[in-house]
Amino acid sequence: MSPAVDQRAVESLLAFWADAGVEVSYADAPIDRLAEGVAMLRAKSQPPPPPPPTRPGLAAVRGPDVGAAIAAAKAAAAACQDLDSLAAAIAAFDGCALKTQGAKQAVFSRGVADAPLMIIGEGPGADEDAQGAPFVGRAGKLLDRMLKAAGLEGRVFITNTVFWRPPGNRTPTPQEQAVCAPFVERAIALVKPKMLLLAGGASAKAMLKRDEGILSMRGRWFEWLSEDKATELPAMPTLHPAFLLRTPAQKKKAWQDLLTLTERLDRPERPH
Ligand code: URA
Repeated sequence: MSPAVDQRAVESLLAFWADAGVEVSYADAPIDRLAEGVAMLRAKSQPPPPPPPTRPGLAAVRGPDVGAAIAAAKAAAAACQDLDSLAAAIAAFDGCALKTQGAKQAVFSRGVADAPLMIIGEGPGADEDAQGAPFVGRAGKLLDRMLKAAGLEGRVFITNTVFWRPPGNRTPTPQEQAVCAPFVERAIALVKPKMLLLAGGASAKAMLKRDEGILSMRGRWFEWLSEDKATELPAMPTLHPAFLLRTPAQKKKAWQDLLTLTERLDRPERPH
């Protein structure tokens, strides 16, 4: 193409733009608006950026925050000199993620403050969440009937490994249990039971720090050891009463566990 042709082409193009009302040029180089539009569409289809990290020590307890929540739970529990102040400290505690996952209230305990037997379940269900006490639903009624039949009525203190209802009654996670553990341990120190009955696999695993199934652990004696290793207590895992409601054929085993435990509680001098 010759320079003369170029010049005519440029003049013609400028006249075209002038006729269209474009009289001023704002940049030396052309801008590809189509390419810009494509880039904007691509950016919109990218996944959103990750949310900012959660604040340490608050409800969303994950990763290193679990350590901070456990430290806060230990400090709060250690300051409690009786069960009432322990109940109040648990209710005021914000370190367990379960507290903000739909639970209505904290569920701590029921029973006798100086009971010889402490029963530790997994976590509150819907009835416990509504009433604020552990084992008050159908599973709790079965537990009460079994305790009465074994001569243990009025001789137990009942609590759970976590104090807020897990959403949908799911099993509490090891993190949730670890955060609540200092309060459970403080309850043991204040009640001073002679032995522990661990209801269900999630309770037995957390309290005994063992990764065994409940069907192999149930009915056997283990030693529960406090965090500072100063206190040791005999502990027996047993089948959870909610499991017994679903599988009544297994009731015989849980009954056998309860009788073995009662025998040791009432006749500690005998070999076990
Ligand atoms: N199941 C539990 O483990 N604990 C309760 O308090 C109720 C049901």
